[in-house]
Amino acid sequence: MGQRIASEDPRHSKSEYPIYPEPMWGAYKERREAHGVQLYGSLGISRNDAAGRLAQYKKNFEFFDAPVGLFITIDRRLGPGQWADLGGYIHALAFLARGHGLDTCPQEAWARVYDTVSHFLKLPDNEMLFCGMAIGYGDRRHKANDFRSPRADLSEFCTFLGFD
Ligand SMILES: Cc1cc2nc3c(=O)[nH]c(=O)nc-3n(C[C@H](O)[C@H](O)[C@H](O)COP(=O)(O)O)c2cc1C
Repeated sequence: MGQRIASEDPRHSKSEYPIYPEPMWGAYKERREAHGVQLYGSLGISRNDAAGRLAQYKKNFEFFDAPVGLFITIDRRLGPGQWADLGGYIHALAFLARGHGLDTCPQEAWARVYDTVSHFLKLPDNEMLFCGMAIGYGDRRHKANDFRSPRADLSEFCTFLGFD
């Protein structure tokens, strides 16, 4: 499976579900781009270093060297309304891992190679690969873990009513 993914450029492969709407807009687009600038900047990979950016993206498919990788699937017959529950589950998993001193990286990048993974795992037809998750002990000194993405002000995404 690894060799097959390594020979591709999965960044533009179509995932089974739309990870992001095309095109992105406004604050969503700006924050996503700013995060990319921060991540690649911290790793010293410039905007025009296409090979460097691709190589970094492909580290997703080595679970960023974590010792354990999970593939998280959902029964596709449940539909998008139930994906919120799956998000809650993924969040709980990440928090519980932290409680055991472990770090996680949920990875939707895996959804772009769902075909290869589904074949490798022999997933039944009704199971849809939603994401992967790397689990291990994060390297606090690694440059990719050296920055904190900015947090939007509460007023940017939350409206309080009835507190006047
Ligand atoms: C559902 C989900 C999917 C993600 N997919 C990826 C991914 O494919 N690759 C990646 O490097 N980070 C991915 N991320 C981001 C990282 O897992 C991690 O949450 C983020 O780097 C944490 O940064 P923050 O603490 O600054 O928010 C994803 C996060 C979530 C919640």
